[in-house]
Amino acid sequence: MLRTTLYKEERHNKTTMSRLVKVAESKDILMGGKIIVEIDGVEIAVFNVDNEQYYAVEDVCSHDGGPLGEGELIDTYQVECPRHGGRFDIRTGQALVMPAFEAIEAFPVTVQNGDIFLTVDW
Ligand code: FES
Repeated sequence: MLRTTLYKEERHNKTTMSRLVKVAESKDILMGGKIIVEIDGVEIAVFNVDNEQYYAVEDVCSHDGGPLGEGELIDTYQVECPRHGGRFDIRTGQALVMPAFEAIEAFPVTVQNGDIFLTVDW
């Protein structure tokens, strides 16, 4: 089970609200690059696929926990898990290639004045 799912279940009985969390500045992620950030113990891979076009997904493969942030980007919007080759759409988190079949969490990204924010709902 993905950590974001576990985290939400732990907080099941608490009121949650979406919030913006600053994770980096745009200068921190080169075009075509990525970084790993951490919010409340959840590691998230943030990709800059084009100039100022950012996407963020949980850094854990739904197949067997592979570190997606260490994977390669393929066809612009797909990240390949370095462990067994499953692929995910970094725009939506949808699993695209077996052995991965369960989606991962994708996080909305907002850029304001050069700062990169993720929206999380826990
Ligand atoms: S851990 Fe990612 S494809 Fe198996």
